[in-house]
Amino acid sequence: MMRLFRHALLLCLFCSATPAFAGDAIIGGDTGYRLWLKYDALPEIQRRNYLKSIKSWYVAGNSDTHKVIRTELEAALPSLLASDIKEHTQLRKQQLVVLTRDQIAASETELLTTLNNLGDEGYVLRQGRYQGRSVMLVAANTPVAALYGTYALLREMQTGTPLNGLATHSTPALQLRVLNHWDDLDRHVERGFAGESLWDWHKLPVYEYQRYHDYARANASIGINGTVLNNVNADPLILSPLYLEKVEALADTFRPYGLRVYLSVKFNSPQSLGGLDTADPFDPRVEAWWKDKVADIYQRIPDFGGFLVKANSEGQPGPGDYGRSHADGANMLARVLAPHNGVVMWRAFVYANEKNEERSKQAYSEFTPLDGKFEPNVLVQVKNGPIDFQPREPFSPLFGAMPNTPLMMEFQITMEYLGFSTHWVYLGTLFEEVLDADTYIKGPGSTVAKVIDGQLHDYPITGMAGVANIGTDPNWTGHPILQSNWFAYGRFAWDPTLSAESIAQNWTRMSLTREPAAVDEIVDMMMQSRETTVSYMTPLGLHHIMGADHHYGPAPWVDFLGRDDWNSVYYHRADTDGIGFDRSPSGVDAVSQYASPLREELSKPETTPEPLLLWFHHLPWDYTLADGRTLWDALVQHYYQGADDVAEMTQRWAALKGQISPLIHKQVSMSLQIQLNEARWWRDACVLYFQQYSGMPLPKGLAAPQADLDTLKQKQFPHAPGQG
Ligand code: GCU
Repeated sequence: MMRLFRHALLLCLFCSATPAFAGDAIIGGDTGYRLWLKYDALPEIQRRNYLKSIKSWYVAGNSDTHKVIRTELEAALPSLLASDIKEHTQLRKQQLVVLTRDQIAASETELLTTLNNLGDEGYVLRQGRYQGRSVMLVAANTPVAALYGTYALLREMQTGTPLNGLATHSTPALQLRVLNHWDDLDRHVERGFAGESLWDWHKLPVYEYQRYHDYARANASIGINGTVLNNVNADPLILSPLYLEKVEALADTFRPYGLRVYLSVKFNSPQSLGGLDTADPFDPRVEAWWKDKVADIYQRIPDFGGFLVKANSEGQPGPGDYGRSHADGANMLARVLAPHNGVVMWRAFVYANEKNEERSKQAYSEFTPLDGKFEPNVLVQVKNGPIDFQPREPFSPLFGAMPNTPLMMEFQITMEYLGFSTHWVYLGTLFEEVLDADTYIKGPGSTVAKVIDGQLHDYPITGMAGVANIGTDPNWTGHPILQSNWFAYGRFAWDPTLSAESIAQNWTRMSLTREPAAVDEIVDMMMQSRETTVSYMTPLGLHHIMGADHHYGPAPWVDFLGRDDWNSVYYHRADTDGIGFDRSPSGVDAVSQYASPLREELSKPETTPEPLLLWFHHLPWDYTLADGRTLWDALVQHYYQGADDVAEMTQRWAALKGQISPLIHKQVSMSLQIQLNEARWWRDACVLYFQQYSGMPLPKGLAAPQADLDTLKQKQFPHAPGQG
């Protein structure tokens, strides 16, 4: 297996060779497949410096993970340093040395003491003396942590950090750092825009794609330690022996990289798969069925992570079907997983029409009464905002409101509501905004990050999930820039206090260019990109006004779907009086779910942050904003500015030609063209639609949209990708 891996790596390195040109066609260009693990040669001066302290490498240990470390160093070091440096089987001076605790000399008491505080996943990077020799040391308690340390050192090198005197250590802030794949067994990816599912179920368990290894490498390189292989809208077949054998093969492939496998399960599997007449969690036959199933899974996969469950949500079965609570359902599964150290990640994404409660409030109402009632191996997985991964939402009020139940963050990395895979939207700033948001639950500074990492409530388990944006597309994410969102997710899951900007800088240097001016330009574009998209899609707190079902493009006119709260008109509430959703105390009072003083702040439009204004308030079209503009003028100006900003991005990107790999440059250029067309489409559709209600002219200096609203309304996209 490793031989295959090495061979493919060499092939991949080969594909980065200088491309040939024929007119506009690019042959053999860098496809982006190597992600941020490109390892192209560093600038000469840097190479010379590094070669002073690294003349060979030495990895102590022979586990499968140690073999991965060796293979990675063999791919990385000769290439980065453009030198024929090699591995040595003995400790030498001026060496990169990778040590796991049981290989560390007992006389190295200081190092061993440092490691005592670093757990199973933390690592030390240290340039200094070891056993009398001057070395660059990567040390950790476990092989997987040594792998994380190795990747961290390679990241330092790829981004140009001087190794001289380097002395640092790191441990992850969150325990479960998990990707959620919304992948179906027929390889369709729900809300996926980057090709098919990575998992070729038909050829599993025999056929082992190199891509599986490269996927695991990429995850390990940013500290992701778990993967839920299948869609939350789960097919019960995933638990059949036929599929479990395939799952086992993937788990075997991923194990050396520290990547544990989890599965999404359908709550009524005992019925649909097991032939029972019920899935009631209180029925002993049901629990017995799950117990046997779980025993079978652990027989095959001893380090299986556990289950992710979407229950009583959007038509999925759940404990509510039997009059039981979410805690009753989750606890039954937790009890059968506990003896194997498995966890249940129980989703809080629930909303039900019959309760007749406003949608943004339902998860809080349903879950807070259950606080403290879950088994210790249950995490409640909460989407970052109270509705559904909109371009901008306030943080979910559940964060902070369940001190006795571990809450796990769920971010969406795939771009369901942010332009699929053709819009350049760096999500680092969105992740940062959510993680840094202050819940005030224990006074100022009670950030969402401190809720989920357990600092505020001493959670026994912690975690973050990211709905993956990857598929079989040669560059994994469909748009080269969107690789940065996978990277940023992993980095924030490791350390939620990192800055979006520093992550963008590292990613750019590792993936696109090391030219300082080009790095600055690209990072600047990344940092503005999400705000730009919010401006041309849902400015000032608007939300959920996209196309029905497929969620592609603007459709503020949607009013025909089966449930009120699936329709755009339910959310924007535009009428001749104004626009926005009154969630203040005079409306549905969603603000009461937040702690003081945030609650009071959000209750009044004057003190509500402008980016969330229409999320919380219904305001007249001529309402005056802090800067003196009317609401209508500001709304329209956002739409125009957003579209203009994309036009500017296309020019800024064009100017980088020659500094980026030609194929990647061309792909991003083409995507920007689509994004520009779509930004203008959003602008025109929303401005024309809302103008029917405002009855106000466009602000001075803005040309009226050329489009015709009725024509825009009639657009159909029967085969838009990623549909549920
Ligand atoms: C959204 C999305 C669905 C998905 C759901 C979920 O509603 O459109 O495709 O299944 O979220 O998170 O469960």
